[in-house]
Amino acid sequence: MLKRFEFDSLIIGGGGAGLRTAMQLAQAGQNVAVMTKVFPTRSHTVAAQGGIAAALANVSEDNWLWHMYDTIKGSDYLGDQDAIEYMCKHAADAIYELEHMGMPFDRNADGRIYQRPFGGMTRNFGESSISRTCAVADRTGHAMLHTLYQKNVELKTQFFIEWISLDLIRDLDGDVLGVIGLELQTGDLAIFHAKNTILATGGAGRIFQASTNAYINTGDGLGMAARANITLEDMEFWQFHPTGILNAGVLVTEGARGEGGYLINSNGERFMEKYAPQAKDLASRDVVSRAIATEVKEGRGIGLNKDGVYLTLAHLGEKLINEKLPGIRETSIKFANVDPVVDPIPVVPTVHYMMGGIPTTLDGQVRDTINQTEIQGLYAVGECACVSVHGANRLGSNSLLDLIVFGRAAGLHIVANSKKNKIKKLPLDAGQVTLKRLKKLESQVDGEDPRALGNELRKTMQEHCGVFRFPELLEAGYKKVLAIEKRVSNLSIQDKSKVFNTARTEALELQNLVHVALATITAANNRKESRGAHSRADYPNRNDETWLQHSLFNPTDHSMSYRPVKLKPLTVDSFPLKERVY
Ligand code: FUM
Repeated sequence: MLKRFEFDSLIIGGGGAGLRTAMQLAQAGQNVAVMTKVFPTRSHTVAAQGGIAAALANVSEDNWLWHMYDTIKGSDYLGDQDAIEYMCKHAADAIYELEHMGMPFDRNADGRIYQRPFGGMTRNFGESSISRTCAVADRTGHAMLHTLYQKNVELKTQFFIEWISLDLIRDLDGDVLGVIGLELQTGDLAIFHAKNTILATGGAGRIFQASTNAYINTGDGLGMAARANITLEDMEFWQFHPTGILNAGVLVTEGARGEGGYLINSNGERFMEKYAPQAKDLASRDVVSRAIATEVKEGRGIGLNKDGVYLTLAHLGEKLINEKLPGIRETSIKFANVDPVVDPIPVVPTVHYMMGGIPTTLDGQVRDTINQTEIQGLYAVGECACVSVHGANRLGSNSLLDLIVFGRAAGLHIVANSKKNKIKKLPLDAGQVTLKRLKKLESQVDGEDPRALGNELRKTMQEHCGVFRFPELLEAGYKKVLAIEKRVSNLSIQDKSKVFNTARTEALELQNLVHVALATITAANNRKESRGAHSRADYPNRNDETWLQHSLFNPTDHSMSYRPVKLKPLTVDSFPLKERVY
């Protein structure tokens, strides 16, 4: 008999999105629990170093409609305009709320929140770059996590720390009634029975070999969704951040270029002037990453293998670097052995963010795209969700905004519907499929080694689904990942112990990663155009006639279907399609 906990709402993931949702629910008097693999303030939200966007106009005139336009253009017109309107319109209030909770934003001389320029953020619909990104030096995500965690402690949210969620519990109506969780410290399992389950498990950058993502980013929410026959949306769109430290993957914030840093090649040339004459180093991330990859391909790379470029900051001076980019100075010294006050930092485009995810409504309800309905009792927020505001390419500093705006929206929807929602009875066989999966993992002998197979998966994705994508590589990669998926069902672990068994955790995480990888490469192989972060050598142009569509990967039979992009905003006029140039 499994131990059972019961809550009004259960949130899986203790990052920014999970904590913001939890706060909304706890404030409304709900009995709320957050289940998280790591202590909440160690969640991956810390990686959004440079800031959070909102048209506060603290440096110069600004307007949320300009932010909306930039986000639509940044998404290469694949973002839904209703969701983008919702996010940009609510941005300023979201920032002031964080400020009032005590988030220690940097300040201008007049005391207002400090804002810096970021890629693709412009004034007056693309006229020139603008300072819209609110920052806490280069530790904005870190500061946000601490603020939201403290608020939840005050509100008495319950935390299940170092627990991993294994599977959703669905009844015969298809409603979600909670999850099966595993406590890492003891190896014990429990049923978490809840009226509402909110997936806030973050990204899955660990499907790639070189990633800015933490080791915890293994797509656990997407894996659970896939095992529960829920489709995954727009999975071909992965963001390469232009400035991961070469050979280390550690992030150097876009805020470094926002403060005036720039990229140079082996000839010392500021090459972004060629690729984005107006925005230069502050073009959108897909454009900058492709420019770096082109410089490298054409022989102008730096480093031992000539496979990176330099980011130079020295001209900004030690005082500014220490004040605005202290974390970057520290990580450059530790991971690249260079002090940016003196020397340029070797960087390379590195996988950073998943634009796709679990399809949701504006209220965070998970959509059953096969039956065209919402799944009762299930929500998704943050990077694991696809609402969709980022489309084919996210603008830097829109991720923290997405977390708090849609975390709040999901919380509001749950509270508004709480009277209607009674807790349903658990199915008699709740947890049985999970127990079988665990038993197989523990009893299997001579199966696949999770570490080796995980490395094979990451290598395959890195080689076959990169910044530039080639038809033969995509097709071959698809076949390899399909074969790996089969082998994942045959994993075995040597260490059968219960207490902090990291081999077992790694195997369970691989069972999630493989769903994400297969959805990614299938969707990428099928989309025959180039848009945002998906750049195909055989279809170099965007094709709005055929492909102004979101892709939907069905994990049950691996088939793809499509739904049209929403071009109609909520209240304002639609932004017409245009060629995207920076
Ligand atoms: O570059 C950065 O600071 C990352 C921010 C983001 O991904 O939004």
